[in-house]
Amino acid sequence: MNRLADAFPRLAALPRAGLIARATPIEPLAAVDGVHVKRDDLSAADYGGNKIRKLDFLLADAVARRRRELTVFGYAGSNFVAATSWHARKLGLHTIAGLLPQRAADYVVDNLSISLHCGSTLFVRDRDAALAAEALARTLRSLVAGRLPYWIPPGGSNALGALGFVDAAFELRAQIDADLMPRPAALYVPFSSMGTVAGLCVGLALAGLPVPIMAVQVVGDRHAGRTALLRLLSRLVTLLKRYGVVVAEPERLLAGVTIRSEFFGGEYARATPAVDDAIDRFVTASGARADSAYSGKALACLYADLLRPGRRAPMLYWHTFSASALPPDVSRASAGQAPPALRCYWN
Ligand SMILES: Cc1ncc(COP(=O)(O)O)c(C=O)c1O
Repeated sequence: MNRLADAFPRLAALPRAGLIARATPIEPLAAVDGVHVKRDDLSAADYGGNKIRKLDFLLADAVARRRRELTVFGYAGSNFVAATSWHARKLGLHTIAGLLPQRAADYVVDNLSISLHCGSTLFVRDRDAALAAEALARTLRSLVAGRLPYWIPPGGSNALGALGFVDAAFELRAQIDADLMPRPAALYVPFSSMGTVAGLCVGLALAGLPVPIMAVQVVGDRHAGRTALLRLLSRLVTLLKRYGVVVAEPERLLAGVTIRSEFFGGEYARATPAVDDAIDRFVTASGARADSAYSGKALACLYADLLRPGRRAPMLYWHTFSASALPPDVSRASAGQAPPALRCYWN
């Protein structure tokens, strides 16, 4: 499945890892009118979620460049680090992950267990700068041993990773053309390392689907905001231009994105009562899993907007949290298997 290359044949030159076998389902959300859900939680049968789309490009690029090690970053319970560890191992790549501390949440031990199961190297520092310095020191050690690690920015959100969501917009277009849902009037999605929003924003424009995006803030302004999003959009537009694909100016693209910060709750992964309530409603209606760090906040925004007079309908909620907590044959690790700085998450 390579809809992007079908639309723009020169993009076929970019390798894909083949992690996504088919289009993720679109289904109406039970118990409310006019909302559909794009089930990216089902993007891969063993361990899905939104990160798989970015990894499809990033891991293929690492393999094409003959790298054997990846350097990645995230919070302690990062879905991206877990997804990278799992899918990279299948391609014979070793993951080295620099982690920032975070508030404890249900999914943290699951994600750490996946990375530990995969034999990933995990280290923790409490600030971005210290994390980058340690990653650099480890890269130099790998270099001395003859290995150049492939660095992936937080959340897999560089231009290449974001291409996964340009592709996703074409997938959505095909599903709308097949009458699986009417053309949405608004799209709701969590906004963190920004690659998902950047890719969708560019992809929707290219696919002729100018759908306004509600980018629901789930991290502090330091990590996600308009200026940083504009920078990522510019890089993505430049990458596409290199392959002969012409898109609107980044500033014009940005006009289609509304950053919604009312549901952030002041801290990454902190669940406000509105978030807990949104998770309960969604899980009951859809049977899918949801989390307090990402999907719960986007859902809180969606449910709040449903009550607003003059709301835009139909709405599309893009569900980004993996359907499976743990891939097949992975069980929860014990605290003793984790580096000492991560054992606090088992309490
Ligand atoms: C479950 C989930 N949803 C949404 C996001 C946000 O996507 P992005 O980092 O591309 O903004 C993430 C990324 O960390 C995630 O893990």
